[in-house]
Amino acid sequence: MIVYLNGEYMPAEQATISPFDRGFLFGDGIYDVTPSYGGKMVGFKLHLERMDNGLKSIGIENPLTTEQWHEIATQLSQKNGDQNLGIYFQISRGNEGRRFHGFPSNVKPTVFGMVIEIAPHPAIPNRHIEAGLKVISTEDLRWSRCHIKSTAMLGNVLHFQQSYSVQNNETIMYNALGQLTEGSYSNVFIVEDGVVATPILDHQLLPGISRHIAIESMRADGSIKVEERIVTMDEVRNADEIWITNSSKHIAPVLELDGEPVGDGLVGEVWERAMTIYMAAKYDF
Ligand SMILES: Cc1ncc(COP(=O)(O)O)c(C=O)c1O
Repeated sequence: MIVYLNGEYMPAEQATISPFDRGFLFGDGIYDVTPSYGGKMVGFKLHLERMDNGLKSIGIENPLTTEQWHEIATQLSQKNGDQNLGIYFQISRGNEGRRFHGFPSNVKPTVFGMVIEIAPHPAIPNRHIEAGLKVISTEDLRWSRCHIKSTAMLGNVLHFQQSYSVQNNETIMYNALGQLTEGSYSNVFIVEDGVVATPILDHQLLPGISRHIAIESMRADGSIKVEERIVTMDEVRNADEIWITNSSKHIAPVLELDGEPVGDGLVGEVWERAMTIYMAAKYDF
C-alpha cells in the first residue's frame, strides 16, 4: 500500500512516526474515512466538513486546504489501484518532543493518509440474498463527546470487542435512560410500522455521513417517512427492522439482537427500498 505522511507518498513500511507524537501518546487527533469506488468518492465534501469541524472543536488548525485534501485522496486512490477503498485521513496535534498534557504552541500537526479495502456496492439491493448482521446491546460507557471523530477510540474498541468476542458484528449502545445512542462503528436506525426512526444528533453520537445520506435521500424520495427523535431500547427490541449505517456498509440490515430475531428474522422490505434509494442518490452528496 502507498500511504501519505506529512507531504510525501511512500510504501506503508517506510512510514514512521515518533512515539512522542500526541496521536500516539494521547490519541490527540481527528480522523475520517471516505468511501471511494473506482476513484469516485461518496460524500467527500461532507467528510471534509466533519473533519474540519472536529479539528476546530479540539483547537487544531486544519493544515491543508480543501483542494489539497482532494488531491491527496485522488492520489491515494490512484496509487492504490482505484478499487473499492476507504480513504482514511488522520491529523494529530503533532510532536513536541515530550509528554505534556497542555497544547503545544508552534508544533505542526502530523498528517497521515492511507486506504482501507471495502466491499463493493451491491448492484441491486435484494433482501432475499442480503446477509444480515448480528448485534448485541450494552450501556454506552464511552466519553461525553461522541460527536467528535476523535482518534481516541478505546471506548469504541472495548465496546466493539464485546460483540466481536462472541462472533457478533456490532455492539449497539444505550444511555443511562435506556435511550439508543449508536453503534461502536455505526449509526443505528429502526423501522416500526413502515416508519424509520433514528436518534437525534447530539454529543452522544457521531454525525455519520451515511446516516445523513440515508435520511436526506429517503426524504427527497418521499416514499419513506423518517423521524429523528429519541429512540428507546424497548422500541429497538420491538422493531420490525434494525439497520446500521456507516461509510463502508452504507445501510446494513440487522437480523439478530442479543440472540433474538429482529422482526420476522428476515431482511426487511423497507431496508430494500431505502438501500435502493441510497444507491441511486449516493454520488449526489
Ligand atoms: C462511532 C461511529 N458512529 C457512526 C459512524 C458512521 O459514520 P459514517 O457514516 O460517516 O461512516 C462511525 C464510522 O466509523 C463511527 O465510528
